[in-house]
Amino acid sequence: SKGTYPYYMLKEIDEQPAVMRRVVDAYLPADGSVAVNQSLLQALDQADKLYIVAAGTSYHAGLVGARIFEEMAGLPAEAYLASEFGYHMPLLAKHPLFLLLSQSGETADSREVLVNVKKQGYPVLTMTNTAGSTLSREADYTMLLHAGPEIAVASTKAYTAQIAVQAVLAKALGVFRKREVAKDFDLRHDLSIAAAGMQTLVDEKEQVKNLVAQYIPNQQHAFYIGRGEDYPLSLEAALKLKEVSYVHTEGFAAGELKHGTIALIEEDTPVMAFITDDVTAAHTRSNLQETEARGAHTMTIVSEHLAQPTDNIVLPDINPLLSALVGIIPAQLIAYYAALGKKLDVDKPRNLAKSVTVE
Ligand code: M6R
Repeated sequence: SKGTYPYYMLKEIDEQPAVMRRVVDAYLPADGSVAVNQSLLQALDQADKLYIVAAGTSYHAGLVGARIFEEMAGLPAEAYLASEFGYHMPLLAKHPLFLLLSQSGETADSREVLVNVKKQGYPVLTMTNTAGSTLSREADYTMLLHAGPEIAVASTKAYTAQIAVQAVLAKALGVFRKREVAKDFDLRHDLSIAAAGMQTLVDEKEQVKNLVAQYIPNQQHAFYIGRGEDYPLSLEAALKLKEVSYVHTEGFAAGELKHGTIALIEEDTPVMAFITDDVTAAHTRSNLQETEARGAHTMTIVSEHLAQPTDNIVLPDINPLLSALVGIIPAQLIAYYAALGKKLDVDKPRNLAKSVTVE
């Protein structure tokens, strides 16, 4: 039940620190080991490319995960949209392994890919939030997300759980491959830092509510921008805002905006920038200024170590590979308050179903 919460979405946003701790309890014992199936690690070790296939928010989590697999495990990884992959498969690597990410484990587009690649004899791993879901039953290997039941149509805690569980697997594979960078990756610690950071952000939700009142109510369009890790984060932030508030929102690679889309910026168009990446922070700030010069109402969501006094939302510092875990919290809250302000049914946006079981 949603208890004292007006909507499941807000309850599920608030649950994310606890979800991080559950992932730690399930996979990362105090002795520093990682509790992941050894035959899965052997199969991954033999793979030359990881194909992460998913839809919607799960696809956005896959984009974040791909980078973690490459960095920690040295395994080339790429995320694909299930609805495209099912029918237009790229030329595959010699030894592909498929990771199907799905909160529900019932998404038809993802199942189509699973059936297809299994027919071709390739190993498949699924990560789902429901033990016994179709995708978890039909795969060779499965890992549980431990987010707990997600009721709101807009996915929140499953996204952060998917990032955390992919990081678990990347760490396990990196250690299996005796990579120094993976041995040094103290994920148990990093996820507890993430949980604490998430807690700070959900405790400060009033601040986000006030920003929403200033930025969103009369807008038909909005943008999220970011570079590096902040780009897939922008895509997810935009999906959240548009699906629950019906404000048309695009997520953009900050440097790409000026190659066309900046033409859409008008007086007071909200442009919200994620700035968590040291290398590109200054570039993103100047991209944001370019939009401001064209009238945009700009908002910054910035990691503490990069923050300046005029920034709007400060994110607690965490391992940069995991920055989406804290970065998404204010964006989820922005979406929630934007929908609430319009008196919409936050948990059941129009035209949407919780699990999409048609192709
Ligand atoms: O259950 P799945 O993770 O496979 O669902 C995938 C998408 O349908 C889902 O993430 C959808 O985009 C949500 N409405 C996003 O909030």
